[in-house]
Amino acid sequence: MSEIEKMIEIDGKTKICGLIGCPVEHTLSPLIHNTIAIHQGDNLVYVPFHVERDRVEDAIKGAYALNLKGLNVTVPHKSAVIPYLKELDPLAEKIGAVNTLVRVDGGYKGYNTDMTGLKRAMEKENIIIEGRDVILLGAGGASRAIAFLLVFQKAECIYILNRSLDKAQALADEVNRMMQTDIVKAVALDAYSDLPDKKFLCIQGTSVGLYPNCDSAVIEDAVFYEKLDAAVDIIYKPAETKFMKLCKSAGIKVCNGLGMLLYQGIDAYELWNGEHIDDVLCDEIYKMMREKTKVEE
Ligand code: ATR
Repeated sequence: MSEIEKMIEIDGKTKICGLIGCPVEHTLSPLIHNTIAIHQGDNLVYVPFHVERDRVEDAIKGAYALNLKGLNVTVPHKSAVIPYLKELDPLAEKIGAVNTLVRVDGGYKGYNTDMTGLKRAMEKENIIIEGRDVILLGAGGASRAIAFLLVFQKAECIYILNRSLDKAQALADEVNRMMQTDIVKAVALDAYSDLPDKKFLCIQGTSVGLYPNCDSAVIEDAVFYEKLDAAVDIIYKPAETKFMKLCKSAGIKVCNGLGMLLYQGIDAYELWNGEHIDDVLCDEIYKMMREKTKVEE
């Protein structure tokens, strides 16, 4: 019998939360949520559900009918669930992607705790977005959400650097239009010497450096890193990416994406249960996640 089975006594009052996605086999979310439930003494279990693309509506309706208290949503359903929700949090609405559903009267309300989790993980490292000039590396799905977070959190100016300049420009235009601002600019990846002579916060949002291709960073020129004073890589596998190594060589404070993964879960649990999860428990779960995501480096 596992530790969890020994400690959770499932009865008629057990609340159920879960994850829908495809695939869900390698998720760390059960570790996060079931550990919290045990520590908090909450009668709650968290279960991953494999849901195919054409069954998203059925899954949401079924979850509501089965009285599920909350759901996480992962790839590829983060945008596909939106038409079936009762309400949407404003940040999630702008991003157009949700990863957390909270049961409300008549359905679920969608949130994007990937982004509130990123903000919280950065704050834990004393990295504050407000008032900062930010370089965002990448213009894919992850960077799109981060760009909205940066505007919501009142960054001073955001430079999206991307290999394909047209994608960076399209993202910058879209965020500026939707947020009624002009602070988001597009820059070609190799044109960083054109950036203003300032110190930047940098968020690495590309897939470059992700395990098993650990030996590259999206920009490898040491001159680029002299422009930064704090950085985050949203990759957590490997725990220290080449980007992070280059930051450290330049004396820059940098953290990986494991905190974001942890706090997207913490934020979701808090939304579902109206509880505050203390720092000691967060740190304990972080250590467990670090062990689980360790790779040979
Ligand atoms: P995600 O949804 O995880 O953000 P994505 O939408 O495929 O993934 O985006 C991947 C990002 O990594 C893009 O910004 C991509 O740049 P392009 O838009 O030019 O394709 C960037 N990326 C991937 N491989 C790269 C490489 N070898 N060099 C530079 N950028 C790269």
